Amino acid sequence: MDSITFTSDTVLSDVHIYTPNCSHLMVRLNGDGQPVFVSKFKILPNSTAHSKGDVGHLSNEETRDDDLIHQIGGGGATVSGKDEPRSDTLLDADGDLDVTRRSDGNLHSDEDDEWREKVYPTIISKGEDFFNEEQEEDCSEIRIEHTMGTALEDVGKQVWRGAFLLADYILNYSHLFKDHTVLELGAGTGMTSIVMATVAKTIYCTDVGEDLLNMCERNVIANKHIYGTTGSEIKVRDLDWLKDEFCTDTKNPYCWSEEETAQLHDQTDVLFAADVFYEDDLTDAFFQTIYRVLSHLRNPSTVYLSVEKRLNFTLRKLDVTCDAYDHFRLCLDELGNMNDGRTSFVVEPVKLAFPQFLVYERVEQLELWKIIVEPHTAMKRLL
Ligand SMILES: C[S@@+](CC[C@H](N)C(=O)[O-])C[C@H]1O[C@@H](n2cnc3c(N)ncnc32)[C@H](O)[C@@H]1O
Repeated sequence: MDSITFTSDTVLSDVHIYTPNCSHLMVRLNGDGQPVFVSKFKILPNSTAHSKGDVGHLSNEETRDDDLIHQIGGGGATVSGKDEPRSDTLLDADGDLDVTRRSDGNLHSDEDDEWREKVYPTIISKGEDFFNEEQEEDCSEIRIEHTMGTALEDVGKQVWRGAFLLADYILNYSHLFKDHTVLELGAGTGMTSIVMATVAKTIYCTDVGEDLLNMCERNVIANKHIYGTTGSEIKVRDLDWLKDEFCTDTKNPYCWSEEETAQLHDQTDVLFAADVFYEDDLTDAFFQTIYRVLSHLRNPSTVYLSVEKRLNFTLRKLDVTCDAYDHFRLCLDELGNMNDGRTSFVVEPVKLAFPQFLVYERVEQLELWKIIVEPHTAMKRLL
């Protein structure tokens, strides 16, 4: 195979944009016949954590206060969409779309190159087991097995920028997760759960599909050097948003035991998901799932959601739009305004003013949202 051919219905994560320039005749294929790659992602030490924008480095104390983040401001999520450029300002006098091309200089400035180690995935050749190879264990290097250029139904086998953004938040605000029991939905390769395991005690890392969950499990096992010393445990489990119940079928290696669902309900107080809003029906199913899970939790909890706004010019609307993002915001608003008499859902955008511990492009289309879930005031009085 000299090069990878991407067909029109293939989706490629920007994280893997620097494709390898080498040819292998034999590439290891996963259970679905897709070529498998491994990428290494470095967790930068605190002193070198890089913050884009003019916020600069925050000291340890400074980074530990959530309210402070809101005061600091800086580049990041747009709260109401008010600051976004109106789409009509992107059109020229004739109504044509005016696209400003980023120069190569902007993409890879000298400043970037100082700290930026580009990710060149390694192709795993047939018969080679990358993870079992004798290699020096670097406690700051996450090694993720993934595929590239998948069809939409297999996007979980790639790593997405939203996973890095959430991982970055976890590393910056580790005290919020320390020793907690947490649930990740749509975990894909397991990258964010692996980072979460450096602080949380039990991580239910969930997704759907046996081949994907196998890949996720392999990554979880291969990265014990990142979290193993903490005594944390990552449990890879099947959680399909299109089903009303947790899978308890023991023929499924990723099914839930009774003890696990009980532990999830009794102890979990953090839910998180990275980049899972790209198809409206799935977004609806996701929100129904978190509502169902949250309504069974014993403790007040917080949900963290990262999203990347992917703008497209559509002939249908003759405009630059992001329908999937608009639908996500609609679902968020509905949840925030929901009054079921039992629970209140406070929805807040999180300012992205925290430094980067991971190397990725924190583009302005990336956003992080937080939902604080508490018993309704009337219910609190009864408790
Ligand atoms: C774009 S990927 C994001 C993966 C990972 N969170 C990341 O950011 O790298 C979306 C994820 O949602 C998962 N997903 C899609 N439909 C799902 C469903 N019905 N139930 C559970 N997970 C689903 C996919 O399998 C995939 O892992």
